[in-house]
Amino acid sequence: MKVAVFGSGYVGLVTACCLADVGHHVVCMDVDDEKIARLRRGEVPIYEPGLSELVRRNLATGRLHFTTEAAEAVAFGTLQFIAVGTPPDEDGSADLQYVLAVAESIGRHMRDFKVIVDKSTVPVGTAEKVRSQVAEALAERDVEIPFEVCSNPEFLKEGSAIEDFNHAARIIVGTESERVRSLMRECYAPYIRRQEKLVFMSVRSAELTKYAANAMLATKISFINEMANLTERLGADVEEVRRGIGSDLRIGYHFIYPGCGYGGSCFPKDVSALAKTASEVGYAAELLDAVAAVNRRQKRTLFDKLSQAFDGELADKTIAVWGLAFKPNTDDMREAPSRELLESLWQAGARVRVFDPKAMEECRRLYGERMDLRLCRDREAAVDGADALVICTEWKEFRAVDFAWLRGVLRCPVVVDGRNLYDPSLAKDAGLLYYAVGRGASL
Ligand code: UGA
Repeated sequence: MKVAVFGSGYVGLVTACCLADVGHHVVCMDVDDEKIARLRRGEVPIYEPGLSELVRRNLATGRLHFTTEAAEAVAFGTLQFIAVGTPPDEDGSADLQYVLAVAESIGRHMRDFKVIVDKSTVPVGTAEKVRSQVAEALAERDVEIPFEVCSNPEFLKEGSAIEDFNHAARIIVGTESERVRSLMRECYAPYIRRQEKLVFMSVRSAELTKYAANAMLATKISFINEMANLTERLGADVEEVRRGIGSDLRIGYHFIYPGCGYGGSCFPKDVSALAKTASEVGYAAELLDAVAAVNRRQKRTLFDKLSQAFDGELADKTIAVWGLAFKPNTDDMREAPSRELLESLWQAGARVRVFDPKAMEECRRLYGERMDLRLCRDREAAVDGADALVICTEWKEFRAVDFAWLRGVLRCPVVVDGRNLYDPSLAKDAGLLYYAVGRGASL
C-alpha cells in the first residue's frame, strides 16, 4: 500500500517508519528543509529508542522517503495521514493552523480519490473543518474530486512509541464510510491478529476517545497524588495505599504512581483543551479543571519541600537535580516538573547542578548559559559540593544509590525524591533527611 504522512515530528515519524517497516511504501512530508535533509541522511532529530535504526533500515529498503514537496506526497497513494502539531493556543484550545494548512494543500494538489486521516490530536469537530478546507481548495480549482476524512488518533507513549505502535491495545478509526473501513483494514492488517483490535466508530466519538483516554490517565495520576498529599498529613504511606487499591482489578496498577506531577506535551495540553471544548458547548468540566489544578500544585511540591527543609533559606544554596526530562527514555522537557523546580530555585537565588542521561542538550537549548546553572556530565558530578539533591525523573540509573556515599558528598543530607525511588527507612538509617511523595509526615 502507498501511504503519505504529513509531519515528521514525533507522531509522524513513528507512524511513517512503522508503516514502512511492515511493508507499506511511505512518503513522509515536512516543510522544514533542514529536518528533511537530516532525515534523508538517516539522522533523527529526536531521541526515541529504536527510531534511528528504524529510519535507516527503511531508507535502505527504499520503502521510506522524505520530501518537502506537498504535491509529491499528495500524489503518493490514497491514504494521507495528517500528523502535524496542534500546539495549545493562549486560551488552552488546540491551534489547528498546521492541520488545516495540510488539508488545504491536499485539496490544492489532489487528482484522484483520497482518504485524509487525522492522526494529530484534534478537538471534536476538526474532521468537519478539514473536510471544509479540502472542499474549499477543490472549489477554488473548480474541480470535483471525491474524498473522505476519518479520525485515527494515536496512543503512543514517548519512550516506547514503536512498541506501542506495533502492539497497540486498540486501533480507533472514526468513519461512516465502508470504503474507508476497508482501506484502513488493509493499512493496519499487518498489526491485527485479532479483528476486534480495530474499533470503528463515528468520527466525533473517535476524536473524543483520544482526549477521554488522556484525561482519564491524567485523572488517575492526580487522584493518587491527592492521596499522597493526604497520606503525608495522616501518617499513612501512599505506596502501601497504591498497592492496596491497585490489586482491585477495577482500579488496576497502571498510572497510579504518585510523583511530582505529570508533564509532557500531551496530558497538560489535552486536559485543558478538553476543558475548553466543554466550556464552548456550555458545560463546566469541573473534574478536568480539578485534575489540572491538582497537577499544577503537585509540580510545586518539590520546591516547597526543599524550601521547608531549609527554612525558606535557599539563596546561595547549591541544589543538585537528577533528571530533567518529563519521564525516562526521552529528552523531552515540555511541561516537565524539573522546569518548575529550576525556575523557582533561581527565583529564590539558588544555584543548580543538573544531570539527565538524555536531556542535557535540551536543557542547554531552553536555558542557555547562566551562572546559576551547571550542566554536569554524570549524577556524581551533579551532587559534588551540592547542599541537597532533588530527583525529578525516575531514570533507571538513579534507582540504585549508595546512601552512605550520598550522605558523604552532600553538604546537608537533604534528598527530595519526586519519584519515590528509595525505601525511606533505609535512606533514613543512612542519615539522609529523605522526603519522598506521600511517604511519612510532610515537613
Ligand atoms: C501519553 C499517553 O500515555 C499516551 O497513551 C498518548 O498517546 C500520549 O500521551 C499522547 O497523547 O500523545 P506520554 O505523554 O508520552 O503519553 O507519557 P506517559 O508515559 O503517559 O507519562 C505522562 C506523564 O505522567 C509523565 O510525566 C509521567 O511521569 C507521569 N506519570 C505517569 C505519573 O506521574 N504517574 C504514573 O503512574 C504514570
